[in-house]
Amino acid sequence: RERTTGYSLSRGGLQAEAQPLVVYTSDQAHSSVEKAALLAGFGRANLRLIAHDEAYALRPAALEAAICQDIRDGRKPCAIVATAGTTICTAFDPIDAIAALARQYHLWLHVDAAMAGAAMILPECRSLWQGIEEADSLVFNAHKWPGAAFDCSLYYVRDPEHLIRVLSTNPSYLQSSADGRVKNLRDWGIPLGRRFRALKLWCLLRAEGVTNLQARLRRDLANAQWLAQQVSSTPLWRVLAPVRLQTVCVRHAPPGLQGQALDRHTLAWVERINRSGAAYLTPAILDGRWMVRVSIGAETTAREHVAALWERMRQEAEQAWPSQAD
Ligand SMILES: Cc1ncc(COP(=O)(O)O)c(C=O)c1O
Repeated sequence: RERTTGYSLSRGGLQAEAQPLVVYTSDQAHSSVEKAALLAGFGRANLRLIAHDEAYALRPAALEAAICQDIRDGRKPCAIVATAGTTICTAFDPIDAIAALARQYHLWLHVDAAMAGAAMILPECRSLWQGIEEADSLVFNAHKWPGAAFDCSLYYVRDPEHLIRVLSTNPSYLQSSADGRVKNLRDWGIPLGRRFRALKLWCLLRAEGVTNLQARLRRDLANAQWLAQQVSSTPLWRVLAPVRLQTVCVRHAPPGLQGQALDRHTLAWVERINRSGAAYLTPAILDGRWMVRVSIGAETTAREHVAALWERMRQEAEQAWPSQAD
């Protein structure tokens, strides 16, 4: 916002801008992107939710069309939030193509890698976010898959001068003889008082070591592939999205069961599993219909647990049918 407006904060702020600023993200982006855009004062009318492709990744052609339309309408494209690993099905927006558009139209490119950023400690996963080196900023949550004690989110920024110009204050009571010799993180973010969250990540890295962390993530990737294979080779069960990492999106679809009746069936069997305490699965809506996300990533979850869960899923979903039919 500030880069696009030539630092409007030192003048009348967003309210004095002649052209509305626009932010772009995929229609699969996490709700926090919308929340952040609203908090930053863009307004919902200036947030574009760009269509996804068959793999649930943002379509660059649709993004460019939206940017051009906004320019024609007298608005100012400002920022793109791309997602590396969407919440619902771990889809990867094509960062390289999006970065090329960000460069061409002078937009800030932020990458939300909250969940999937952890996978980038595995060299074999890095092609999933090809072009990441062009991002202006990036976030990943070390408290998710790696298991750092909650909460521990990592924020990377290409050029901290943008933050410092916008976020630094220098009242007399905060000045010290160390100023100028240290990176003062109060000038890089919103709160003045902060916890030492990086310590938790340092402890995790010291306790487990990178090699063990990599082994754990690879175990989860293999378990997700195993589950996807079981599901897709079982009649009436479907894997609904490509399994890029550790999340498997599934649905049990008995013949003739459609629409809201199918939704009721899905929500009923997942609720029975969750109430039992045996596992916790998160239902979500994909393409307008409820389905079930199996997110495999807890430190202690091994193949035997995933196999037991799959047996339980089959029991709960298959036994209920056909009694749930309309
Ligand atoms: C892709 C993605 N972005 C953002 C978030 C939210 O992150 P935070 O809790 O740091 O706001 C999540 C999940 O919690 C997520 O999956």
